[in-house]
Amino acid sequence: MKYKIDAAKELYQVLKDALSLEKIERLLEKPKHEQHGDIAFPCFELAKAFRKAPVQIASELALQLQSPLFAKVEAAGPYVNIFLNRHHVSKDVIGTIVKEKELYGNKEFGTGKTIVIDYSSPNIAKPFSMGHLRSTVIGNSLKRISEKCGYEVVGINYIGDWGTQFGKLIAAYKKWGDEEKVKQNPIKELFRLYVHFHEEVKEHPELEDEGRAWFKRLEDGDQEAVVLWTWFRSESLQEFSRIYELLGVKFDSFNGEAFYNNKMDKMADYLENLGLLTESEGAKVVSLEEGMPPCLIKKSDGATLYATRDLTAAMYRQGMYKFDRALYVVGGEQSLHFEQIFAVLKKMGYSWVEGMSHVPFGLILKDGKKMSTRKGKVVLLEEVIAEAIALAKQNIEDKNPSLPNKEEVAKQVGVGAILFHDLKNERIHNIEFSLEHMLKFEGETGPYVQYTHARACSILRKSDFTPDNVSAALADDTSWAVVKLLESFPKVVETAFERYEPSHISKYILDLAQAFNKYYGNVRILEEDEGKQSRLALVYAVTVVLKEGLRLLGIQSPDEM
Ligand code: ARG
Repeated sequence: MKYKIDAAKELYQVLKDALSLEKIERLLEKPKHEQHGDIAFPCFELAKAFRKAPVQIASELALQLQSPLFAKVEAAGPYVNIFLNRHHVSKDVIGTIVKEKELYGNKEFGTGKTIVIDYSSPNIAKPFSMGHLRSTVIGNSLKRISEKCGYEVVGINYIGDWGTQFGKLIAAYKKWGDEEKVKQNPIKELFRLYVHFHEEVKEHPELEDEGRAWFKRLEDGDQEAVVLWTWFRSESLQEFSRIYELLGVKFDSFNGEAFYNNKMDKMADYLENLGLLTESEGAKVVSLEEGMPPCLIKKSDGATLYATRDLTAAMYRQGMYKFDRALYVVGGEQSLHFEQIFAVLKKMGYSWVEGMSHVPFGLILKDGKKMSTRKGKVVLLEEVIAEAIALAKQNIEDKNPSLPNKEEVAKQVGVGAILFHDLKNERIHNIEFSLEHMLKFEGETGPYVQYTHARACSILRKSDFTPDNVSAALADDTSWAVVKLLESFPKVVETAFERYEPSHISKYILDLAQAFNKYYGNVRILEEDEGKQSRLALVYAVTVVLKEGLRLLGIQSPDEM
């Protein structure tokens, strides 16, 4: 928090000879209990320099430390406890939010820099999986958080539209496919064919060769193969875009794996020239450090691989966007793959690899088990989203049937519930999928935060508040708890970015919502007295920050619900 720095400066004035400003800043703590003030300074480190007991130093310091910023300074054993001047701080913080509105918390450290985020990246001719949902939701939030930190962000949906599986799919379609059925229900039907192929292979292993042959034809540009592939691809993209539309997610590029087809040979040649390619059982590989398996670049039949395409894509993206950072929001199962990619790029001598990170995440579980798309056991995401929206709609019908825009609000709440549930815990954890849980209006849910925001908006609607030139000086405990949280928002944004961790934002807005609800319960906000405008200004500041926090998670905040 900003006031921690100010407090450190004040302490530094007194302690110049003993400690550096940085050291003081590092020593400052947040007291465990509210009654011990807002900032605590432990005096143990000073004992040596001053040749005194820390307890004595603390009581002397408490006397010396004076500033209009502090309401009170107290010694408590070896600690100096600082109580900030609540009037001063609340005026400053709320004034800033009223002035900056949704720009509050914006950072500049990313200005002039570019960050490329690879997220969502589903595979065509397959259902959009729960894993891809997580990637979509986390990547979308990281995009917004990065933008708030000043970065130019390029969102890339690296569609999985190339690889031997498309040979198998074409073979399956040629054998058992029906054009009409595919047209009616593309992904379901294509996926059924793909699953069927895998069942048949067990009895007829020769099918594998047919699949390989079709992929070869595809790679060689054979007309029939290309026409089928193009058709499957565009049907899939149409289905995906319906999901993105529902989730409110956008991308700047859809260059998928196939886009790199005609660029991979150059990449392989390049590795060859650098002397990095070696032969291993007929295949071409780049060998890597101890403990890491070699990175396979070309199979013995000349076919390229997932890694070949990712290497080519990384080079292309660096050339195209000159990125300072590149994030891959992909499940933890692919950690080794990315370690290998980064290791190869490093071996090639590129320093920009330092800015690349794999941003992994855990699984979505149903009753403790992985939700799988294998063997045709699919959970269709579109149906899940539709169900969430329907439940949200039901909720509105029960609680607020006269609400205008019911459809729109139900969509915002249903989708918000799914997103928030995904983002509320550290991304590396697995999450248990339960629509019922997600849609609760109490507890740690999206609808709870949205509802708190709507409640705050409704207070403002009922009053004559205008967010101009307010100076809100608030001092009671419940207001102060809210003010302190509001004050920490910019820091939370920064930490969320540094750790690529949207859960910092979600945890924060839950805390803020809780603190606000306490305020709402304890304080007579609309009482006609001289404090009314100040209290309303706080309410207004909360609406701004809750809305902005939700926005950073990709969630909308209806004014009424
Ligand atoms: N399509 C891949 C999959 O579903 C994810 C791609 C992730 N991005 C990447 N650059 N490899 O497993």
